[in-house]
Amino acid sequence: MKVSVIGSGNVGSSCADVMAHRDTAHEVVLLDVKPGLAEGKALDIWQSAPIDRFNTRLIGVTNDYTATANSDIVIITSGLPRKPGMSRDDLIETNAAIVKSVTENVTHHSPSAIIIIVSNPLDVMTYQAYLTSAFPRTRVLGMAGILDTGRYRSFIADELNVSPKDVQAVMLGGHGDTMVPLPRYTTVSGIPLTDLISNEKINTIIERTRAGGGEIVKLMGTSAWYAPGSAAARMAEAIAGDEKRVFPCCVKLEGEYGLENVFVGVPVILGKNGLERIIELNLNDEEKQKLKASSDAVKEMMDVLDRLQIKNR
Ligand code: LAC
Repeated sequence: MKVSVIGSGNVGSSCADVMAHRDTAHEVVLLDVKPGLAEGKALDIWQSAPIDRFNTRLIGVTNDYTATANSDIVIITSGLPRKPGMSRDDLIETNAAIVKSVTENVTHHSPSAIIIIVSNPLDVMTYQAYLTSAFPRTRVLGMAGILDTGRYRSFIADELNVSPKDVQAVMLGGHGDTMVPLPRYTTVSGIPLTDLISNEKINTIIERTRAGGGEIVKLMGTSAWYAPGSAAARMAEAIAGDEKRVFPCCVKLEGEYGLENVFVGVPVILGKNGLERIIELNLNDEEKQKLKASSDAVKEMMDVLDRLQIKNR
């Protein structure tokens, strides 16, 4: 199992570190455009192998895609992160050009890979990678739902003073202000969340979750990396181990949830083929409406991308 991580900034290197520590793959290749960065990060992580006891070989390269050849999984984190006051959508033009060029290189050297997109704006960049790669939708996935539910679950764990391990949740929609957490499908070890906290508290948690990425940007002046890195690593682990994990991921919908040709987060099963199945929930009217609004917001940004004419396919 070979996994390449394109972009060795905070998110990429954090993701590689988590995968190495969990021995997700035999080999993890880190690539970056900045000379020496990926080499240095790979060496640093590799030097923790004897200390933390893992086997994963780490290789760092400066823009040399031949080193990524025949990767089973490629995680794309390239692009600019947000600065305070920016929305993820403000990054569209710059990051689309970067994701397009990265995806061309990736698909040339690893034509059978499963691609996981982490670059923002997430749903639109997943669309860009889908267009450029010409891969089937089963092999182009976006990481957002695991991160967003991670935030939501951590806030619930704080509120109830329970282990975050025991909070389970699913989320729908785009990776932005319109994301749709689903209290009806949130439990604490099987106990419905709605039996444990008032609706008012749940709404406060949902609002904080929606703005969760921005909260961190405001604190640090740049976007998050530990939780995003771990979330992408979890997707790679599920695929590498053919685990059939059920995660909210950004995928192309082809009629599911009544939506066509839009990239949004829905619960899916991840295994060796990438996207193995989309799980369709029985949504009530309010939930359907919120998902539609989120999908419309993503579609608007997909249209912006179309107008930029960066695409292939
Ligand atoms: C966030 C960025 C990575 O949500 O999208 O933190």
